[in-house]
Amino acid sequence: MEVSVGAMSTRTRATSVAAVLAAGDSVPPQPRLPYGAGVSSAAVAQLLAQHPVVLAPMEDVTDAPFRRACRRVGAHLCVTELIAAEHIVAGAARARRRLDLAADDRPTAVQIYGANPALLRDAAIVAARDRPVFLDLNCGCWVPKIAQRGAGAGWLRDPAAMVAMARAIVDAVDLPVTVKTRIGYGPESHMPIVDLARRLEDAGVAAIFLHCRTAAMGHAGRADWSWARRAREAVTIPVVVNGDVRTADDVVRALAETGCAGVMVGRGAIAHPWIFREARALWSGGAVPPPPKEMRAGARARENTTDSASGRKSCRLQTSTRRRSPSRRGTKCTR
Ligand SMILES: Cc1cc2nc3c(=O)[nH]c(=O)nc-3n(C[C@H](O)[C@H](O)[C@H](O)COP(=O)(O)O)c2cc1C
Repeated sequence: MEVSVGAMSTRTRATSVAAVLAAGDSVPPQPRLPYGAGVSSAAVAQLLAQHPVVLAPMEDVTDAPFRRACRRVGAHLCVTELIAAEHIVAGAARARRRLDLAADDRPTAVQIYGANPALLRDAAIVAARDRPVFLDLNCGCWVPKIAQRGAGAGWLRDPAAMVAMARAIVDAVDLPVTVKTRIGYGPESHMPIVDLARRLEDAGVAAIFLHCRTAAMGHAGRADWSWARRAREAVTIPVVVNGDVRTADDVVRALAETGCAGVMVGRGAIAHPWIFREARALWSGGAVPPPPKEMRAGARARENTTDSASGRKSCRLQTSTRRRSPSRRGTKCTR
């Protein structure tokens, strides 16, 4: 089935997203689509048309228990924490755990990162064996340890290399491949994202998740959603807007202002995981439901301790039941 959300006008797109949100949880599960050239973007578009609010990848936060908790309060499509290509290829236990998706933890996309295109390609082939809903390439992590060695947002310094790397991965796996990136490395006055979005589409990328800040901004300043609108207007694949979507109101506003196929929520889901069901209720014109009882006390505690710039303290609270070791603090793509 061809579902070309990216090709719709803003108005048609907003209407279709509204209809989907209004349908609530009664949307029947869709038949599994065959992936491969030409249909991968349609498959992702179809998924987003049903569930446009996506849980962002967040290292040390969006592990399987957290994804399950979010799904209990309305989330559907989730993305794993970033996984290093080197670790996947080496079969490291931690990477293996992150790749391993249980039956009740789907649809979940796996996010991989690295600086070496050949290693990334090999890692993508290994990751695809676990049949995530799609593979996401991290081209947005700004943390110096990652970006300065050419991984994450480091790819934004060489858009041609990023496109070639994405194309090689698209050709190597039989799953949709998406890219999560930023509007540019910065601080240029003209961001590369619009032209880059076109080139990524040409390379066969199925969707773009766009954190609307430059890498140089880290998490400072405001995310400029207008870049998501401009990128969305330039391509037919889905563009998902990300950055500073903290409330259900923000979800509705971001969809309306950008006409994007979806919204990705990161830190907002840490303090407020039921944002997913609130957004659906709000868009459908219903009353916003109260927070789930069992989450109210925890939410208050998290809200009181959340560092709004990084979400760090709340992450610690949220993941306090997980076993931690010094190595787990490794890359810290907290952004
Ligand atoms: C604690 C933390 C960990 C993060 N880890 C990742 C990651 O593993 N991969 C990634 O692409 N982005 C990562 N990010 C960035 C988020 O996915 C998202 O792009 C960013 O937080 C902006 O969205 P928000 O304003 O909704 O939080 C992380 C952010 C935070 C706060």
